[in-house]
Amino acid sequence: MAAADRKKTPILAGVVGWPVEHSLSPLIHTIWARRAGVDGHYIPLAIAPAYDDFAKAMDSLRTIGFAGVNVTLPHKDHALRYAQRASAIAQQAGAANMLTFDDAGAHADNSDVAGFAAALAGARRDGTAPANAVVLGAGGAARGVALALQAAGATRILVANRTRAKAEAVASDIGGDAVDWPARHDALAGADILVNATSLGMRGQPPLEIDLSALSPKALVADIVYSPLETALLKSAREQGRPTIDGLDMLMHQAAPGFREWFGADAVVDAALRAGLVRELERRSRP
Ligand code: ATR
Repeated sequence: MAAADRKKTPILAGVVGWPVEHSLSPLIHTIWARRAGVDGHYIPLAIAPAYDDFAKAMDSLRTIGFAGVNVTLPHKDHALRYAQRASAIAQQAGAANMLTFDDAGAHADNSDVAGFAAALAGARRDGTAPANAVVLGAGGAARGVALALQAAGATRILVANRTRAKAEAVASDIGGDAVDWPARHDALAGADILVNATSLGMRGQPPLEIDLSALSPKALVADIVYSPLETALLKSAREQGRPTIDGLDMLMHQAAPGFREWFGADAVVDAALRAGLVRELERRSRP
């Protein structure tokens, strides 16, 4: 398909995952498309977990003329495998959350890293970068967070994870140190930022147990979980007067590069966008 055909309207893009019904990405892109007056659709696509299912679906989307897709669990490593080309950051992260289709095939990128970096920049009250960081978790999300912290200038990154071998793998890739999961509370001493990059604290998942008393009063506390929007971790941080970054901050910022690339219009992360997403989360949480 020629590039000109691919840009035909309506422009088609979407998010691929399994499950995918919970994704807020269609709402984010729909709000931006409406604002920009773009003739386009952003569709949630449930694709079964095996790589073959993913690859067949991507071939079909390319043939239909999709401009690109966001990719979420469990396909982020499949996206990197499928693409003929990948950005340096996607290769470094070992995962991609964006695939852009063109005549040469598919290009993989990772906007999770830039998304966290943008959320971090927006939250720094005094403009200084955190030097000492503690990351909880060692999955794909934690790896993205650790890379963003490193890019933002963090000089000491501790990675605490239930499965120590995975913490060691992430720590060794980014030049940080692994911490045993039970030692996570004490590891907070001297940290300027704590990031929960596990699924703990998410609705339907076990709570995150963490004692914040060793953390400095000014330290930033971030949570990748956005359902509930104010997790128990963020609630205790707020009650202690600490600055916080919630999961929606990161989600909105990671969505912007895809929208700009595929729909060719600006994607502004602002209070109105957040309000639209908060309303949707509230609607979903009602019995
Ligand atoms: P993602 O790509 O979103 O990071 P993931 O790879 O499934 O998803 O990672 C989930 C993270 O939550 C992991 O760090 C996981 O710890 P393990 O590596 O030990 O599995 C962490 N996690 C999930 N459930 C947990 C639990 N009950 N206690 C502690 N950590 C947990």
